[in-house]
Amino acid sequence: MANDDGGDIGAGARPNSRGLSRRLTRYGDDRFAQFLRDAFLQATGLTPDAFDRPVVGIASTGSDFNPCHATAPALIESIRRGVTMAGGIAFTFPTISIHESFAYPSSLLLRNLLAMDTEEMLRALPLDAVVMVGGCDKTLPAQIMGAISADVPALVAPVGPMLAGWDRGERLGACTDCRRLWAGHRAGDIDAEQLTRAQGRLMPTHGTCMVMGTASTMACLAETLGFVLPGGSSIPAVHSERLRFGEDTGRRAVAMATRGGPTARSLMTAGSLGNAIRVLQTLGGSTNALIHLAAIAGRAGLTLDLDEVDRIGRTTPVLVDLKPIGSGFMEDFHHAGGLPALMRRLRSSLDFNVLTADGRTLGEVVEDWPDWTDDRVIRTLERPVAPGEALAVLRGSLAPNGAVLKLAAASGSLLQHEAPALVFEGLDDLTARIDDPALLVTAEHILVLRGAGPIGAGMPEAGSIPIPAKLARAGVKDMVRISDARMSGTAYGTVILHVAPEAAAGGPLAFVRDGDRIRLDTAGRRLDLLVPEDELARRRAAFKAPTSPARGYARLHAEHVLQADRGCDFDFLVSD
Ligand code: FES
Repeated sequence: MANDDGGDIGAGARPNSRGLSRRLTRYGDDRFAQFLRDAFLQATGLTPDAFDRPVVGIASTGSDFNPCHATAPALIESIRRGVTMAGGIAFTFPTISIHESFAYPSSLLLRNLLAMDTEEMLRALPLDAVVMVGGCDKTLPAQIMGAISADVPALVAPVGPMLAGWDRGERLGACTDCRRLWAGHRAGDIDAEQLTRAQGRLMPTHGTCMVMGTASTMACLAETLGFVLPGGSSIPAVHSERLRFGEDTGRRAVAMATRGGPTARSLMTAGSLGNAIRVLQTLGGSTNALIHLAAIAGRAGLTLDLDEVDRIGRTTPVLVDLKPIGSGFMEDFHHAGGLPALMRRLRSSLDFNVLTADGRTLGEVVEDWPDWTDDRVIRTLERPVAPGEALAVLRGSLAPNGAVLKLAAASGSLLQHEAPALVFEGLDDLTARIDDPALLVTAEHILVLRGAGPIGAGMPEAGSIPIPAKLARAGVKDMVRISDARMSGTAYGTVILHVAPEAAAGGPLAFVRDGDRIRLDTAGRRLDLLVPEDELARRRAAFKAPTSPARGYARLHAEHVLQADRGCDFDFLVSD
């Protein structure tokens, strides 16, 4: 007799091939495997009454090294309560946890490790459904990638955003204001005392960054894709509503465990991907989301078309008035009606037939959502924050496979710009020279950082290259910056990111020299290196690829990571 995972259940095992009889450890004797498992279960204090219940695994990314997830234990407890109330049994299990400020050299380097960890545990453990608890930037995309590949019934329970901070009558938020204050300090406008006081007030509660950075964007996209119960992406981490959401999520997980669906892969369709792109543009969300969406789509056999992202952006107004593009914070978005209220505004351009883990279609979710919306935060189509083009995709001789610009957070005066390049060879060179008083740089220069792509450096958030100190002190607030790196979703400026192919892969970025002219033509969506082809051919012939790290995960990453336009997933994990 075979269970539904292809594993044998020997004669005498419990007839149920679900729950704790799933995925029996292979000893060549399945009756013994079940006997032994039941003995271990009894050793935890469980009575046999528990053994035939629907099993909900709860993937925990709680960690003392992840301050954003500090509320995970309470949220997990609420999910467990919901599971128990619905007649299931919950098992919490750990996976690795990634925090943006506690991941050397780059959190993205570790995203695929978390995705693999999640996938392999979902394949190995005897669970019928999973609730994945995460929130800090890389965690939700990694968990969704893993769940789609394992194709189990899966829900996401984001830990939720922080509340906004206050200093001197001004609302502050991580990390847009962290960057603004730091830039002000570098320019000499903010003294050390003000900076230190604000530092203690930027993040007044537990939770994820509360602007529309990567964490908020990915929570909203997880909800758009159907993995989060309606409205669950924006509830503040420290509100009691977050715990009631946890209970509801636990209850819903039992229903999914009992029915065996919907599974994660079934939620990830061309329709839900199109919805996610549209919502990303209307949020004015993080550029990082394009990498994560490409990777998530790839796990379901879909392709994120960057040109389609650009096309959708041209017809999608930015409606959410949150930093860094606007002025509010996630708690404002939540009180304004949350994501279903936003999606209601987009009803004519979203696919409302897609299924959600809630069990209803997206259209039914939106239809049933309370109809009040605060127009000041979730703007009407007639009065948007920006008319469109939040995220633009550029191509050209410098970025044959694409580059990304957060157009809505860039300076209008720099969008059509031709100037000489000033090149930095990786992060050490950048750190060593950017503030050198002797640096030959003007405000017109285009700063180029290379060697910071997925192969070169694990693609850190170094793309928002600091304005050189001497220019910052002279009042320069923005310059055109180009790199194969990423930038934080909380950052802003005329920053061109994700240049593909990256320099370490032999992309044209590797051949730029100081003084070469570069032309940015945002209106035409072009990024070109104005160097004659014969000269480029000479430089290309002299290119030497960097050597891979000698061992371990870093080597696996360098040898198998795909470029930014493919989501930086590993080539062997993408689905056909
Ligand atoms: Fe965790 Fe911003 S650092 S969400």
